[in-house]
Amino acid sequence: MSEAENQATDILLPAAGVAVFSRDPETLRNSAEIRSDWRFARVALDVTEGDVETAIRIFSDREAPALIMIQTETIDEAFLGRLETLSGLCSQDTAAVIIGPVNDVYLYRSLIEMGVSDYLVRPVMKNVISEVIAKTLIVRLGVSGSRLVAFLGSKGGVGASSIAQIMALGVSELMGQKSVLIDSSGGWSSLSVGMGFDPAGTLREISRAVDKKDEAGLKRMFIEQGERLSVMAGGGDALLDSTIAPDQYERFLDMLMVKAPVVLADLSASEPGLRKLLISRANHIVLVSTPTLTSLRFARSLIKEISDLRGGGKEELSLIINKAGQAKAYEVTSYEIQKAVELAPSANVPYLPALFMGNESNLHQVLQDREGLELLKATLLPVIRRTVAVDSDGYLDDKSDKKSGLLGSFLTKKK
Ligand SMILES: Nc1ncnc2c1ncn2[C@@H]1O[C@H](COP(=O)(O)OP(=O)(O)OP(=O)(O)O)[C@@H](O)[C@H]1O
Ligand SMILES: [Mg+2]
Repeated sequence: MSEAENQATDILLPAAGVAVFSRDPETLRNSAEIRSDWRFARVALDVTEGDVETAIRIFSDREAPALIMIQTETIDEAFLGRLETLSGLCSQDTAAVIIGPVNDVYLYRSLIEMGVSDYLVRPVMKNVISEVIAKTLIVRLGVSGSRLVAFLGSKGGVGASSIAQIMALGVSELMGQKSVLIDSSGGWSSLSVGMGFDPAGTLREISRAVDKKDEAGLKRMFIEQGERLSVMAGGGDALLDSTIAPDQYERFLDMLMVKAPVVLADLSASEPGLRKLLISRANHIVLVSTPTLTSLRFARSLIKEISDLRGGGKEELSLIINKAGQAKAYEVTSYEIQKAVELAPSANVPYLPALFMGNESNLHQVLQDREGLELLKATLLPVIRRTVAVDSDGYLDDKSDKKSGLLGSFLTKKK
């Protein structure tokens, strides 16, 4: 078994489409239930009552997905002919798996020879279907990385944590992406405040769990916020103790990155070594600053350091101006900000004390507040879309690391 196949049992699968055609109620039910498996968060699964004819009809005028799974009651020349027709409608990126009535090793071999990825004998249990889909997608598409988005304030108190939390809710609740929100500030973490839980776990415990590769222990350090967001329930560290070494934090990240398509990391109030690590590693960085001279001065230096650290370029850096209007007479205008920091702000968040303090005092959650929802939708969502690189269909844009299929259409003989 290849390394990719070995990994299939416990990783987040790449974004891909899978279509299942069957007339067997049990197969239909078992296939549909896979949707609740966390590994399939990015897999668009279509389960249709039908057979090879249905598939031919559907993919005559629609592009075929990465994997087509077809159940058939007869495997004879006529079926193989129809399979060939279907194959002609698919590109080389499509794989096929057949579920058939008989356990016949010669049939299995000849189907595999023809380019079918796997042959299963009915009845097929849910875990068999999910393993076969997982392995086929990984072999075809590879293990694709998740997106790491880092949030950083130009100086203390500018609102980096608040913005990271609202954005995390936007990714999970509005964009429907499974996501994880972490921070690296130990006892200085304010995640518990905004997210409404008691600080408990510590970065030290996390580093111990990482050292032991203790996935269950790590899982206990997270609390669920809604259906798709896991938040690191940290904040229990002593304020004046050092917390976790960058290399350990990196291993923690490695464990998270195969579990969720989007990881958001709040770097405010963190040690420089940890910030540097996450800034180097992130796919996108959101820098938060207030429109004041001191904050912008730090922002300018940081933008330079960040772009040097990442080998030049600012395409993966978004600047958010926060608390605009708090001290209007002393604030720098958007035009001057852009000139001074040489980066156009991606969003301007007004000073909204009722919204932010209300959230902090547990009076209301940001998304349950009309002003909060409006802020997220109108001002922050466009930035989030850019940071997590979501395409127009709402899937993570994996095109950059997609590997092309090994076969022509799926029935072309393997070389
Ligand atoms: N747009 C805003 N309007 C009003 N208050 C805000 C706004 N953004 C953030 N705040 C408030 O500002 C304070 C600081 O915010 P936050 O803790 O998010 O900043 P930070 O940059 O993470 O700070 P630290 O450097 O301590 O980590 C909080 O009380 C928060 O509620
Ligand atoms: Mg903070």
